[in-house]
Amino acid sequence: MTPPKIPPPEIADLLREDRVFPPPEAFRAKAVPNDPDIYEQADRDPEGFWASFARELEWSRPWDRVLEWKPPHARWFVGGRLNACVNCVDRHVRTARRNKAALIWEGEPGDRRTLTYFDLYRQVSAFANVLRQLGIRKGDRVAIYLPLIPELAIAMLACARIGAVHNVVFGGFSAESLRDRINDAQARLLVTADGGYRRGGVVPLKRVADEALASTPSIERVVVVRRDSGSIPIHMQAGRDQWYHEVMQDAPLTCEPEEMDAEDMLYVLYTSGTTGKPKGIVHTTGGYLVGTYATTKWVFDLKEDDVYWCTADIGWVTGHSYLVYGPLANGATVVMYEGAPDWPQKDRFWDIVERHGVTIFYTAPTAVRAFMRWGPEHPKKHDLSSLRLIGSVGEPINPEAWVWYYRHIGGERCPVVDTWWQTETGMIMITPLPGITTLKPGSATRTFPGIKAEVLTQAGDRVGVGGGLLALTRPWPAMLRGIYGDPDRYVKQYWNTWGSEVYVTGDGAKRDQDGYFWLLGRVDDVINVAGHRIGTMEIESALVDHPLVAEAAVVGRHHEIKGQAIAAFVMLKEGSQPGRLIVDELKDHVARKIGALARPEDVIVAGDLPKTRSGKIMRRLLRDIAEGKALGDTTTLADPAVVAKLKEKYEEEYGAN
Ligand code: PRX
Repeated sequence: MTPPKIPPPEIADLLREDRVFPPPEAFRAKAVPNDPDIYEQADRDPEGFWASFARELEWSRPWDRVLEWKPPHARWFVGGRLNACVNCVDRHVRTARRNKAALIWEGEPGDRRTLTYFDLYRQVSAFANVLRQLGIRKGDRVAIYLPLIPELAIAMLACARIGAVHNVVFGGFSAESLRDRINDAQARLLVTADGGYRRGGVVPLKRVADEALASTPSIERVVVVRRDSGSIPIHMQAGRDQWYHEVMQDAPLTCEPEEMDAEDMLYVLYTSGTTGKPKGIVHTTGGYLVGTYATTKWVFDLKEDDVYWCTADIGWVTGHSYLVYGPLANGATVVMYEGAPDWPQKDRFWDIVERHGVTIFYTAPTAVRAFMRWGPEHPKKHDLSSLRLIGSVGEPINPEAWVWYYRHIGGERCPVVDTWWQTETGMIMITPLPGITTLKPGSATRTFPGIKAEVLTQAGDRVGVGGGLLALTRPWPAMLRGIYGDPDRYVKQYWNTWGSEVYVTGDGAKRDQDGYFWLLGRVDDVINVAGHRIGTMEIESALVDHPLVAEAAVVGRHHEIKGQAIAAFVMLKEGSQPGRLIVDELKDHVARKIGALARPEDVIVAGDLPKTRSGKIMRRLLRDIAEGKALGDTTTLADPAVVAKLKEKYEEEYGAN
């Protein structure tokens, strides 16, 4: 594998942020942890460090060894046995948390439900029984395609209870994306809903699922949650489809959990990479639970009476780790909201914070930049004094957005935790600890205790101060264990650039004189649009699938709100007669093929694409064009006039970005 490129130095130069925010004394005094020595202790004995968190969980058999590391393959808590659902639910039901709110849910139209830990226990047990009754056994894969409703968490935990492997597919994905994920995972059962609410409309999930189900031979059964009250008629296929509320009616409310090995698979979650096909990231039970439990507890300084809200959808890893497993393993009260932040008004989030007394709030920089654009009058309408900690995840947060968030949402009293991690890492890796770390706006600061990261040059040399490529140099408990069905790709993709002990993140980063990390975004062919990861190759494949398209090249360009936007350059087939609306048609085509999140912002129909003499498209130059920058070196091009023409056309149509 060729090593990824170093990010352009001008990005690193932009970061000359020197404001610092030490932990407020009132916060520090009560924070767990607040002793800076823990970094050194964890570094001296990382295995002992993780074991101390593992001991706070419930195991039916203790582990023999904390870590077995045969690079690049790790096994954590070897020989240990436990069940993730028992740790997230049963463990609390046996304590004073029994009647504590586990989930406070709010639907977009305003409907609300609160489930206590005991409610959750009964519903999860009942659905686990349903799954078993429908023939699902330990190790079987269950696909879940639901809106953000409590049944999504219930279905995941029910899978975990019986040892089935869940594969959650974000409700915004298309039929094809759903189909490909189901087929790759060979899921036997699908849990979906008739619809979900988004910006006042109904997303017809079952209809989309039906389209996918036409070519998913592994699916035997479909369970459909009724979310919409019949506004969109749906088809139920006899013998295959059943309503959730009907199958749940007589299901017993207790269900014996399956005892799992620490290394048994917990879930598969698909994410975009540098090839056309998303990969199924595999997470296992013991290490994942320990990693998400520990980081939720320390990064968010979680206390018994907190009301914790992570705004992510469970369709992404943030929802898996920090809406479900991490907070529930901690026995927290979790707020869950189905819809858009600006529905029906731009103060919806702040209304939720005020009404539920949210104390910890975790969102994405894209959302913060949208709040900034909407103006401080929206949060000002509400009493946000319950908040004591705010967090950010998913993309680099620019210092302006950080400071706005700190001031207008955090009231200049809440520490901001900017947390860097990935689907593959499973857990937060680089982050402040709010009672210890002095914050710098725009920096994710330092590694979580026990974690080791470095900035490396392309050759693999350590960068002390300066820019380079971010690598992880020590195994961690929630690390991915593989790519579903593709063991070679796991090694090649992640552990093959600087030897089998160094994990390649695909991100560029800078390290400053205090050792702080400043994340600079992806350096591979992955675009991060509004915190959602999408591969350029996936979009290119979708474009060339259109009958008129001969060739396509996709790049990410800077976008004020979304962080990055997709710019696509397409060459049409010779002799094709595009209509006037070809650009919109191509955008729609990509959205239909992959999902709305992949819809290109800019589409440029080009007469020709800039290629080297050996015929390789020079994406670097396309990026310069889309970013409105001066063109880099064009001497290796077969025909330098092509790129000049393209630049002119781009600026005509989209202006200089
Ligand atoms: O580029 C980094 C960016 O998101 C990528 C991981 O995306 P995904 O697997 O979808 O997981 C997102 C949620 C964890 C990373 O490679 N990223 C994530 N968090 C940050 C970030 N970039 C900068 N700062 C962050 N805090």
